[in-house]
Order: sequence, then structure tokens, then C-alpha cells
Amino acid sequence: MTSLHTHGPIAGHQAGLFWLLFILGSVVYMLVMTVLAIALFRRHSEGKDNGFIIGGGVVLPSIVLAVLAYATVHVTNETTARASNPLHVEVTGYQYWWRVAYPGTPQAITANEIHIPVGRPVEIGLRSVDVIHSFWVPELAGKTDLIPGQRNVLTLTADKAGTYRGQCAEFCGLQHAHMAFLVIAEAPDRFDAWLADQARPATGFTGLAGQAELEHQSCAGCHTIRGTSAAGTVGPDLTHLMSRTTIGALTAKNTHENLAAWVADAQSMKKGAVMPPIPLSGAELDDLIAYLETLR
Ligand code: CUA
Repeated sequence: MTSLHTHGPIAGHQAGLFWLLFILGSVVYMLVMTVLAIALFRRHSEGKDNGFIIGGGVVLPSIVLAVLAYATVHVTNETTARASNPLHVEVTGYQYWWRVAYPGTPQAITANEIHIPVGRPVEIGLRSVDVIHSFWVPELAGKTDLIPGQRNVLTLTADKAGTYRGQCAEFCGLQHAHMAFLVIAEAPDRFDAWLADQARPATGFTGLAGQAELEHQSCAGCHTIRGTSAAGTVGPDLTHLMSRTTIGALTAKNTHENLAAWVADAQSMKKGAVMPPIPLSGAELDDLIAYLETLR
């Protein structure tokens, strides 16, 4: 994760501004140190030099600050400008995960893994249900806070297909460090196929023992599986759980073992997460995981 290795125009502008500040700052620093060294080693003063004081103390700083002010305002305008024909995505921060919705396709709800099409601007609405979080994908754009009671907007574009890691950048509690996410930029047709797939409900009643268990256990009070009676909104939507590569907002890879460990006792993997340990027998846990693994 580095904001200097950029893959989109917004992050590119911001990295450019960083380099301008860094280079100008370095030049000014070296200039001041040189003058200081001369002053220290000069034996005696030859009277006042008003020209030097006005040039070095007023004119030069004014020019440097004016250049930086112009560049900063310019980059701010570029990065906050309304994009034409953007894809709208709504991201909501929870302690400690991200809910992701696509208003153009209201059925498509996911968590922690945000797919976007390459080359198209994405306007991301940012809200929080609890405390202040901060949405940060260094390779694509700078940070924007998610503030309770307010909707902030961040625009970004990915120039190249790839998976970009993001991280909550505002300390928000015990598991702030495990409040990560992925932005997966893919070709527009692949993105469209993915979005259509996310919008589809889970395949009704599967007949698997684990499904009945999930709907009767406390699971359904917190999680939604569209197409079943599970309609909780406290935790992530699990309708297409297996289309995600990670669980627990990138706490672990989405493997059979990790999923079972997570369901049995999420607290041992992510202490402070809302999910309580689920008291299940070995066979019940196996059934439940077998059902979850059908949610593709
Ligand atoms: Cu959310 Cu730190």
C-alpha cells in the first residue's frame, strides 16, 4: 500500500502535489542551511544588507507559497470535480467492516470487497452508522472520512485492472487495524456480469440442514441472505458470501477452515467484533458451513 505508486488520475494528481511539496521543501531547506552555515562561519559583518533580507525573507517565500497555494487549489479542484457518467457506490462504515451497495442495482449488496469497472469514474458515497472511519485506497485516491449523520463523497478511477487494498485510516476502536477492504477493478463486461450475479437472490430452499439451522439460530437476526427468511442488517449480507475472497474485513482468507473457525468463535479471530460465539455441535457447524459454501 503506497500512495506514491498510483493507478488512477486522482491518486496521480495527489502524488504529483506531494512531490512538488517535497522537492520545493527540500530546496528551501538546503538554501536556508547554506545561508546559516555562511552566517556562522563569516568572521565579521559588513553592515546591513536590506536587499538580501527583502529578497530572501519576503519575495522568495511569497513566490514559493504562491506556487504551492496554486498547485494545492488546482489539485483539490481536480480531485473533487464532478465526474461525467460515474458509477455510484454507497459505502457504509460499521465497527469493523464496510457495507457496499450499488444504487443503480439496488439488489446488489456486498461487504468489504468493492468491484468497479476499469476506466470509469466511481462516485463513492460514504456514511457511518457508529463512529468516524476513514476510507483510504492509497493507490487510487486520498483519504475521506465517514462521519455519522453526514454523507461525504469521494471520486476515484482505476486506470488498470487489479486488486487494490484499502484500509480504515481513522482510529475507530479495538479492531481498527482489521477494518480493511479490497477494491477490485476489472474490465467493464466482467464487472457487469459480477454485478448482475450479486443482484440475484440465493437459491431459495436448498434442503441442506445448515440452512434451517442458520434461519433458526441467531445468525438470521444479524445477517441477510436474500431469498431466505434471514434478513438481519447488523452484519454483512451473506447472499454471495463465497464470491468474496476474505472474511472479517480481510481478517482472514475465505477458506473452509477459517469460515468454520469464524462462525464457531469470531472473537478468537477478531476480538471486539460484534459477532458472538455461536454454540454449535461439531455436526451442526459442519452443516452450517456446508450451507454457507453454497452461497456463491
Ligand atoms: Cu474504522 Cu478505523
